[in-house]
Amino acid sequence: MFLRCLAHREVSILADTHHKVVVDAALEKHESTKGSLLPILHEIQDALGYIPSDAIDVIGKRINRSRAEVHGVVSFYHHFRTHKPGRHIIQVCRSEACQALGANDVIDKLKRTLGIEFHESTSDGQITLEPIYCLGHCACAPALMVNGEPRAKMKSERVDSLINELRATNYDD
Ligand code: FES
Repeated sequence: MFLRCLAHREVSILADTHHKVVVDAALEKHESTKGSLLPILHEIQDALGYIPSDAIDVIGKRINRSRAEVHGVVSFYHHFRTHKPGRHIIQVCRSEACQALGANDVIDKLKRTLGIEFHESTSDGQITLEPIYCLGHCACAPALMVNGEPRAKMKSERVDSLINELRATNYDD
């Protein structure tokens, strides 16, 4: 009981109230299960879009892992982000089939048009560009994920209309 109270107090070191709620809920849900770290991280990223750095300490203390261990898992998997993403996330497949069918042209055009590299967001915080590795849509290469939705047979010529489409949705709500 005492330990449990201490554990709950650790969550309070998270500066952001919403983060506290999300991290605590993920810990409550998964901490007692074997191999809890990945489900906890997925739960947090699904809710927040990334893993806040102060959450790493809290998670480690709650599940008896060192900060280095938790950080090691977060940085090992490309899926996990350590910074808040933009409102829209474009993920471009960099695996073989997509590269063979022109993914690099699409990537170059996206980087030039957005003025960012992979793992960066546009200066207005609206669009984040990320690499991804085989979406299982190799027959529809080059493949993208846009806000979690697959896009098939992308061409560099269609990058402008994709970005316009995303920017147009910024003011819908
Ligand atoms: S190689 Fe790109 S979806 Fe499989």
